[in-house]
Amino acid sequence: MATTLGIVSVAQAQNNKDIDKQAAQIVSQMTLAEKIGQMTQVSIDAVCKGADTPPTSTLQLDMDKLRDAVLNYHVGSILNSPNTRARTAQWWTEIIAQIQEVAMKETRVKVPIIYGLDQIHGATYTAGSTMFPQEITLAASWNPAHARKMGEVTAYETRASNVPWNFSPVLDLGIDPRFPRQYEGFGEDPYIGSVFGYELIKGYEGDDNNIANPTKLAACMKHFIGYSAPISGKDRTPAYIPKSVLLEYHVPAFQAAIDAGVHTVMINSGIINNEPVHASYDLLTTLLRDEMGFKGMIVTDWEDINKLYTRDRLATSIKESVKLAINAGIDMSMVPYDYKEFCTVLTELVNEGEVPMSRIDDAATRIVVLKLKLDLFNTPNTYSKDYPEFGSQAFRKASYDAAADAITLLKNDNNILPLKKGAKILVTGPNAVSKRSLNGGWTFSWQGEKIDEFASEYNNILDAMKLKFGKENVAYIPGVSYTDAVEYATEYKNQFDEAIAAAKDVDYVVLCLGENSYCEKPGDLDDLYLNDLQTELAKEMLKTGKKVILVLSEGRPRVISKISSKVDAIVQTYLPGLYGADALADILIGNVNPSGKLPYTYPAFPNSLVPYFHKHSEEQKKSEGVYNYEGDFNPEFHFGYGLGYTTFSYSNLKIDKKQLAKDSQEDITLSIDITNTGKREGKEVVQLYSSDLFASLIPDTKRLRRFEKISLKAGETKTVTFKIKLKDLSFINMENKRVVEPGDFELQVGSSSNDIKEKVLFTVL
Ligand code: BGC
Repeated sequence: MATTLGIVSVAQAQNNKDIDKQAAQIVSQMTLAEKIGQMTQVSIDAVCKGADTPPTSTLQLDMDKLRDAVLNYHVGSILNSPNTRARTAQWWTEIIAQIQEVAMKETRVKVPIIYGLDQIHGATYTAGSTMFPQEITLAASWNPAHARKMGEVTAYETRASNVPWNFSPVLDLGIDPRFPRQYEGFGEDPYIGSVFGYELIKGYEGDDNNIANPTKLAACMKHFIGYSAPISGKDRTPAYIPKSVLLEYHVPAFQAAIDAGVHTVMINSGIINNEPVHASYDLLTTLLRDEMGFKGMIVTDWEDINKLYTRDRLATSIKESVKLAINAGIDMSMVPYDYKEFCTVLTELVNEGEVPMSRIDDAATRIVVLKLKLDLFNTPNTYSKDYPEFGSQAFRKASYDAAADAITLLKNDNNILPLKKGAKILVTGPNAVSKRSLNGGWTFSWQGEKIDEFASEYNNILDAMKLKFGKENVAYIPGVSYTDAVEYATEYKNQFDEAIAAAKDVDYVVLCLGENSYCEKPGDLDDLYLNDLQTELAKEMLKTGKKVILVLSEGRPRVISKISSKVDAIVQTYLPGLYGADALADILIGNVNPSGKLPYTYPAFPNSLVPYFHKHSEEQKKSEGVYNYEGDFNPEFHFGYGLGYTTFSYSNLKIDKKQLAKDSQEDITLSIDITNTGKREGKEVVQLYSSDLFASLIPDTKRLRRFEKISLKAGETKTVTFKIKLKDLSFINMENKRVVEPGDFELQVGSSSNDIKEKVLFTVL
């Protein structure tokens, strides 16, 4: 089918490799206003009316507002869910179909709208969808297949909702546990971020990145770049990041995403070196386009062009903000409300010669290319009825499997876990009956607070414990809430007493602590310690003399050093998703042998927030004669750490060569034998680190280079083989260039960053 603009089917177009040409041709027929409209993205709230009060909601599209945006201002993209509340797949199908009707029938150019949503751990805004564990939890599985699977399921369920564009994955480096968005990413290690991000994108877009496939969608890597490292630890506050640091740690996951073929990118809402990233030509054009080779479309984050003026005082007007951002390289503005002003001032800027027409053509063309690649001109809609696997058992099992593979056993004194069947258990703490704390933000709503409305059939921890251990064996007392407010403290005094009394009759206390759901600014924090009331409850439970199992559900590692040494066991669930409670209970009862490992360093104190790849000066040891006291890097738990119900031994590390010339492209092959020395089958994450012993820019103590998760029966031995290249031993030098320097490197294999089992020296000549 050909449209008025002569669009041919995407398969044909791709065969002819002429999508770029087609897009240029379409754009050449557009007026300036139409091109600028393509660059404009509005929130659906700007084109809706009615009361959003389920179950009798009258919310609907306001056709007058929609026509004003799409016909008069040529708006080319819409995002978000009204009031950030999930809707049914049918609702989405109908609403977006109505929007496409207007765009494709009533406009002159007949260019479809591209709709975007944040479906970041499953289809967030689609009721009944399969929510997975959050990215941080997937990383803790050290099994990238779960990221691929989440991408596939999410793409399918998002397309079932008639939405072809997903603002995911988050590739921000989780090096600061204070940052409220740490759980949205894959943790602190650049290599893990690269591997998991790559797989998630392939899950979303397919191996061949053919996003015309109606079960795939366009991914959006975000938030480029350096978003997660502000000085204050708070969202959207200034970061100071030298270029070499940006390139060494923050860029790799984004580069891997580009290699994965990701179609779009969203920009960091924050400020680096006193420059808002949205105004940075250096970062958006020189780095992202010229140096990293990104050819896709660049969208802003929420209202971020305006913020150059309203928040940052860099621009003296909205008009100047628009000029700075578009000239820096922005293609599409998530306006998201006052699109008229954006369209008007950008038109003026072009007419005044302040923004070159070539920049507008470039931006509009990239957007039209994306729409062509999605085949939206021929297939503007996908229909919920065509997606029978939506919410299927197979999808749900994939979510459970990811949680079961990720939950991390951090402490297990005297092998207290797994708990004996028939044991009497008190379940207490605010997370025991909360689904918010298992799923986090972006779960059926922005802050995750509407989950009970959408996920009533899923188990919370108490439900799951009763199912596994028997109702009669499990008692429950709430204990405390997340807040430290004085009125709660008084109210919860009684709850403490009740919990203490209930503990008398049980063998074990399962203490469910952590955080409530949050995301972005509302998740900012002034104190990384677990809050006082929860800590108090833990102390009261410890005083009872019963065995205490601390179960953490939290978006970031809240400091637990006031209680960690005294509890008998600690299980980190992170944000394990809709089946997280079931997976946890299976681990506590021993049906599942835990195999997750920390994807970040768990700090012991709020003033010691250093990742595992720090510099040697973080470890000034008495034993090395530096000081007469220990100044060690000494976190609560190390990166890569996690226990199971069996044990492993490592032996026979081999390397196929001891040296290579510095420009060699050859592989270096290492192998090591791993044996399950325990009594039950289990999984081990075998980790390969390298340490550059001396370098012209201070080397990191160590860096993760490869990992593999293997499963071994009791007594079984397997050989794990790793291949690396010299590039894996390179670093960014003072001149901001990636180099391999001659010298000695230690290659280390172990079961965590702090538990190296065998190592070998390698020399670069
Ligand atoms: C967030 C983005 C998100 C966007 C659209 C912003 O506030 O920072 O991650 O994609 O909203 O919902």
